[in-house]
Amino acid sequence: AAALASIAHIIEQHQDEQGALLPMLHAIQEKVGFVPAEVVPTIANALNISRAEVHGVITYYHFFRQHPAGKQVVQICRAEACQAMGGEALAEHAKAALGCNFHETSADGQFTLEPVYCLGQCGCAPSMTINNDVYARMSVEKFNRLIAAKRG
Ligand code: FES
Repeated sequence: AAALASIAHIIEQHQDEQGALLPMLHAIQEKVGFVPAEVVPTIANALNISRAEVHGVITYYHFFRQHPAGKQVVQICRAEACQAMGGEALAEHAKAALGCNFHETSADGQFTLEPVYCLGQCGCAPSMTINNDVYARMSVEKFNRLIAAKRG
């Protein structure tokens, strides 16, 4: 309930801005970690647009989460330079190792797997992040080591 109150406050703060939707969604995700489905109607009302429009924007931008993340967030770079350097194999391995697809969380609630599009490490591809720490020149072995260490 506290989260919903702070979301209501965020919506109020942004609703009169030009192009308020994106800043609003960013602020909500920053506050509570994702954009809860139940606030979509409130956002739509505040901005005088349809729920479908709000939902469309949330799903278009891979950045926005529709569910709370697991304890730790693993992001695999899916942009060109990393793809060219084994990023796809790394992504497949990450899915298998964590037992979930992109935008999903491992069964133990530990890791949420997300795509990301360039981490500015193209020279040391493929790259990924764990909880916003960037790791480059990734290999399957390095992935396993990092995840094992994070699992603690
Ligand atoms: Fe992956 Fe730039 S493409 S870091």
